Amino acid sequence: MSSTSILFLFLFLFPLSSLSHLFSPPDNYLINCGSSAPSTLVDYRHFAGDISSALSPSPSPSHSAVSLADQNPVPGSSPIYHTARVFTSPATYSFPISHQGTHILRLHFHPFHSPNLRLSQAQFHVLANGYVVFSRLQTLYHPNPTILEYLIWVEADKLDIVFVPNKHSKLAFVNAIEVISAPKDLVPPTAHYLTSGNFEPLNKHALQLVYRLTVGGVKVTPFNDSLWRTWIPDDDFFTPTVASEKLYFGGRIKYRFGGASREVGPDNVYNSARLIRSKNDSVPNVNMTWQFPVVGGYKYLVRLHFCDIASISLGLLYFNVYVNGQLALEDLDLSYITNSLASPFYSDFVVDGGDGVLSVAVGPSKRSMAHVIDGILNAVEVMKLNNSYSSLDGDVCADFVIKTWSTGKYTGMLFSLVAAVCIVLSLSIVIRRRLIGSRESVSWSRLPVNLSDNGVKN
Ligand SMILES: *[C@@H]1O[C@H](CO)[C@@H](O)[C@H](O)[C@H]1NC(C)=O
Ligand SMILES: *[C@@H]1O[C@H](CO)[C@@H](O)[C@H](O)[C@H]1NC(C)=O
Ligand SMILES: *[C@@H]1O[C@H](CO)[C@@H](O)[C@H](O)[C@H]1NC(C)=O
Ligand SMILES: *[C@@H]1O[C@H](CO)[C@@H](O)[C@H](O)[C@H]1NC(C)=O
Repeated sequence: MSSTSILFLFLFLFPLSSLSHLFSPPDNYLINCGSSAPSTLVDYRHFAGDISSALSPSPSPSHSAVSLADQNPVPGSSPIYHTARVFTSPATYSFPISHQGTHILRLHFHPFHSPNLRLSQAQFHVLANGYVVFSRLQTLYHPNPTILEYLIWVEADKLDIVFVPNKHSKLAFVNAIEVISAPKDLVPPTAHYLTSGNFEPLNKHALQLVYRLTVGGVKVTPFNDSLWRTWIPDDDFFTPTVASEKLYFGGRIKYRFGGASREVGPDNVYNSARLIRSKNDSVPNVNMTWQFPVVGGYKYLVRLHFCDIASISLGLLYFNVYVNGQLALEDLDLSYITNSLASPFYSDFVVDGGDGVLSVAVGPSKRSMAHVIDGILNAVEVMKLNNSYSSLDGDVCADFVIKTWSTGKYTGMLFSLVAAVCIVLSLSIVIRRRLIGSRESVSWSRLPVNLSDNGVKN
């Protein structure tokens, strides 16, 4: 391909106007754990190795954590999954933060076969900035990599990610870590709390991505997303109904100041939708419904993305939106909000996870008209909010996780006792200070000596 045709292709894929808006995060750390060499992904991002780098975990790797390389990597798989950093005792990655605010944290896990270590048996907690973000206490094996994404508010000048192996497995690992400043509008300070009033401060919570769906469209990969996200098609969550259809729009998405930005949702997400169309003299009496299995006992942020890519003129589309069966938006009039067709808008709701299923429904309202579009949805995101233990994964707080590692009293502990200890810990500054002392005294052990050097560096 000649350089002019490459340039042409580039301009075609990225119109100049969108280039000028490309987001450049002040903090942007991409770490290929257990590797000494940088790797480049298909989305052109460079992941730096963490061996002999400023960002290697502490205590220093030579005394503790080992790096492990997959001897038989799956051909064509991403290079970040060919190595892992393995921990046999707690270890911390400390990322200097230049701009306070929300940061995107992505953890990549892909247990590969190793002659000496059973990565798929690893059991551990991950702590981020004092939140328990991950508790892997049962062994699971997925053939595909697991990518966990979090939004974490950082007020300090560093973000500490701590891997704490469970006493049983004495094994934790990670393949890659991303820490990226989020744009200011990604997590607002308030959202409607569906039960009553407003929920705040939303942005000071830790959030974990549970579902990110592009409605009616094809998968959107990090290559095509302004924040390197993945949006999967909604088909598995959608209950088909009469009068609903998928739509793809080839025109331009008109981002507007005050509306959704390209970082909130990229063009490739807003240019597809499902809609309800009235084809005769009556308004269809149906809802489009999506259902999301969730873990009960947490609050969730439900973000709904709308962009009227279907109407033939302004002022024709009115519809209702229900979250968990409750009317969330009545007579939604996108024309009034955006004053333009094909201009994106999003709305956030905080809801209770309740009985383990969240639902979203879109249907005609009393203002809906015949012979036009009577409902639309372009994308849905569902995020879990931390619970009162500052945890996203279980009723155990971060101090307790550290404490049980250093005292070894985890097994057999009563659930209620765990809860009580967590409450006491979070209430008592004095006890907390002492715990910080014990955290510093956390000791490090080498891997068992019977490991051969095969596949284990360091
Ligand atoms: C990016 O989006 C374009 C156009 O929507 C699509 O043709 C292409 O396959 C996508 N690339 C990747 C890597 O997802
Ligand atoms: C409009 O079409 C739907 C099915 O698509 C049908 O159920 C309904 O009776 C029709 N209404 C009129 C007024 O023809
Ligand atoms: C649409 O869903 C809402 C909320 O669950 C419900 O109140 C309404 O009756 C539904 N409409 C239809 C036509 O099923
Ligand atoms: C989430 O954690 C913060 C403290 O880090 C706490 O103030 C807040 O109440 C927690 N959220 C919930 C819903 O309990």
